[in-house]
Amino acid sequence: MKKITVLVLSFIFVLTLSACGGEDLDIGIVLPTRDEPRWVQDEERFEDLLADTDYSVEILFSDGDTSTERENVETLISQGIDVLIITAQDGGAAGAAVEMAKDEGITVIAYDRLITDTEAVDYYVTFDSIQVGEAQAQYLVDQAGDTEGNPLYLYAGGTFDNNAFLFFEGAWNILQPKIADGTFDVINSSEAVALSDTAELTRSEMSDIMGQIDTEWDFEQAITLAESDLTSASAAEKGEVFILAPNDGTARSIADTFADDDDVTEYHITGQDAESESIQYIIDGQQSMTVFKDVRILVEDAYNMAIDVLEDNEIETTGTYDNGEIDVPSKQTEVITVTQDNVIEEIFDS
Ligand code: BGC
Repeated sequence: MKKITVLVLSFIFVLTLSACGGEDLDIGIVLPTRDEPRWVQDEERFEDLLADTDYSVEILFSDGDTSTERENVETLISQGIDVLIITAQDGGAAGAAVEMAKDEGITVIAYDRLITDTEAVDYYVTFDSIQVGEAQAQYLVDQAGDTEGNPLYLYAGGTFDNNAFLFFEGAWNILQPKIADGTFDVINSSEAVALSDTAELTRSEMSDIMGQIDTEWDFEQAITLAESDLTSASAAEKGEVFILAPNDGTARSIADTFADDDDVTEYHITGQDAESESIQYIIDGQQSMTVFKDVRILVEDAYNMAIDVLEDNEIETTGTYDNGEIDVPSKQTEVITVTQDNVIEEIFDS
């Protein structure tokens, strides 16, 4: 069916609902994009869980666009939701959308990505994103062993996403001492080189580095960056290289670009999400590792939290996250490093 027809039909559906005072929705879910397998995975996991729920739930995608996200929230508000579960496209920009929901008495649960600089977030369900970055960096450190002067290429996620900072912070915790002691030479970020003796970076120092290596969570942008880094690098800065890639989609793009360079003899590259395409890359030796975030747990946590809200139960949280405005009560889940050695056990068996 054409997109426009779907749009018109869903518009008519919403109108019909409000015209006949139809049943209100209980829970609205907004996910950022179908262009990345990660979020399609979340949708599928939600659908598995929702197959036998008594509550009415609707999932909408924002097509990577903040104004579509806002329209999605408006649509769900007009359908009478009591709980909104939302992965913000842009953690700062989403504030205005969730404030509209909050004004209607809707409980807002930030899902995987924190919404920043607003009071309108009630809860946050998330993986331990600092642990993700630490696991990626630890993998690279383990591969480098006791050798020195290893070329290190850094890449970060979209700086509109608070997680990108947490991933980078985790990676820096582990990489910085190894940059400072000469194990690694950072090739593609003069800001990281300038800050190589600084163990704890401020947000603005992180922004300085990440601004030079920002993939924007976009495959094409990741390729463009990697190509330009390889063009600037000398042959001596290639050979066996170490690459911090923030997630699987960007990892595959960057890995393919490095694989095409004649002066790169071997590369070690990180990832995250355990996307099926990347699991294949790992099996084939084209990507070195991924961080497995069991989306089933996150989906269950968010759903159970929503049900607890609807049923007036006490909400179970394990900590808080400062979103720049308030400390948001949160529930956090651990992650698992996956390489060729444990891919069968961790991915196929689970
Ligand atoms: C998520 C990652 C995902 C990335 C790009 C992050 O906020 O935590 O799992 O790969 O966004 O969509």
